[in-house]
Order: sequence, then structure tokens, then C-alpha cells
Amino acid sequence: TQSVPVIAIDGPSASGKGTVAQRVANELGFHYLDSGALYRLLATAAMRDGVALDDEVALAGLASRMDIVFKGEQIWLDGAPVGDELRGEACAAGASKVAALHQVRAALLAKQRDFRKAPGLVTDGRDMGSVVFPDATLKIFLTASAQIRAERRYKQLKEKGMDAKIADLLQDIRARDERDTQRSAAPLQQYPDASLLDTTTLDVDQAVKFVLNGYQCKAP
Ligand code: CDP
Ligand code: CDP
Repeated sequence: TQSVPVIAIDGPSASGKGTVAQRVANELGFHYLDSGALYRLLATAAMRDGVALDDEVALAGLASRMDIVFKGEQIWLDGAPVGDELRGEACAAGASKVAALHQVRAALLAKQRDFRKAPGLVTDGRDMGSVVFPDATLKIFLTASAQIRAERRYKQLKEKGMDAKIADLLQDIRARDERDTQRSAAPLQQYPDASLLDTTTLDVDQAVKFVLNGYQCKAP
């Protein structure tokens, strides 16, 4: 599978990684992996089973046992569909806690690499270009100011009918950025071989174009 192209998009919360990655995957007819969903699902499964979010051994076991199916927009965990709560900040905060544990990351590594299938993969997360697919064809570090990211998340949650306050979201996003960048296991960082894409003043179309152009330059 090493010859199958991978576009890795990493960056902080609500920078637009998922939206941009999905659009690029559609344009190219590639598979798409939302790696953050795996950490969110693990947090969901842990809360369901009463596993503490710092019990590394139990969480790693749970991570290897999770049966996850992506069906379009819908995700199934152990045979049951997961609701919109997966996208809420409570779940994201839990995800960020379990994601700091080395054994959890190790348990999810092979699951993520399994998504590398012809004709190609577009994936987004924190360490897709650094740890999971270090040989990715194109690596993008997607970011935007924290204020803009909080506003984007606010709009997105409102559209789903979920309640939130921009000030709270800003605080949550900052706390998560801090935990994700300061941890020892695969910290969020702008690694040197990634192209920086700051979308503070760009819309989705412009960001998608940037990634597609970058890929055209790198593709064999
Ligand atoms: O995956 P990540 O958390 O990085 O972001 P997302 O879930 O894709 O959410 C970003 C939100 O901001 C979506 O509602 C997008 O439509 C919007 N947005 C964007 O993604 N990129 C821009 N350049 C502008 C807005
Ligand atoms: O959409 P958003 O960027 O807010 O979150 P996400 O991508 O769904 O990720 C949720 C949490 O999972 C992040 O805050 C990270 O702690 C963790 N994560 C990670 O550690 N590595 C990844 N490749 C993806 C997510």
C-alpha cells in the first residue's frame, strides 16, 4: 500500500480540516478518514462502559476492540449508530484526554493505516503526516486564529441544532489546543515538511483549491 497516495491534513480544532479534507477527497475520488472520530468514539465507548479516561491499559484494550463503521455521514460503533453528541465539545474534551495516552495511540495506529486504499486517501487529524503516514504525498498544516475557529464551530453546532456560546467554545478550543500541543505522544505541531495553510481570511473553496494545487504539483 506504500504506493497509494495520501494527503494528510493536520491542525488545531475547527480550522476546517474535516470540511476541506472531505471536499478534496470528493474531487479526487479518494477515500476519506476522519481520524479525530476514532478518538471521539473511544471517549464515547469509555463513558458508555464506565472506563476512566486516564485508565491507559483499559482504554487501549477498548480501542483495539471497537468495531467502527463509517457509512457516509453516519458512524456506527459496536453495531449502534452514534448521534450528534459525537461532535460536541464534551466528547472532544474526552477525546483529547484519551488521545494523550501512548498505548491508546498505538492501539489505533493499524486501524488508521488500513484506510490507505487505492486510488488514494485524504485524512485529517493531528499526527497524520507526522506519525501515521510519515510518507504522505502531501502534508498540510491547516490553521486559523482561535477566535475565527470558535466562530466557525459555533455556526456549525447551531446548524445541527446544538446549543453553545462562542466564549465557551473559545475557552474549550484553547484548552484542547494546549493539551494537544503539550503532550508527549504525537503532539500537535507544524512539522517541517508540511505546507502551512492559514485560513483565517480564506473560505472553504480557496482552501480546497490550495490543497488540490499542492497535490497536482506532487502527484506522480
Ligand atoms: O475538522 P475541523 O475541526 O478542523 O473543522 P471542521 O469540522 O471542518 O469545521 C470547520 C467549519 O468552518 C465548517 O463549518 C466549515 O464550513 C467552516 N469553514 C472552513 O472549514 N474553512 C474555511 N476556510 C472557512 C469556514
Ligand atoms: O474537529 P476537531 O479538530 O475539533 O477535533 P477532532 O479532529 O475530532 O479531534 C478530537 C481530539 O482528538 C483532538 O483534540 C485530539 O486530542 C485528538 N486527535 C489526536 O490526538 N490525533 C488525531 N490524529 C486526531 C485527533
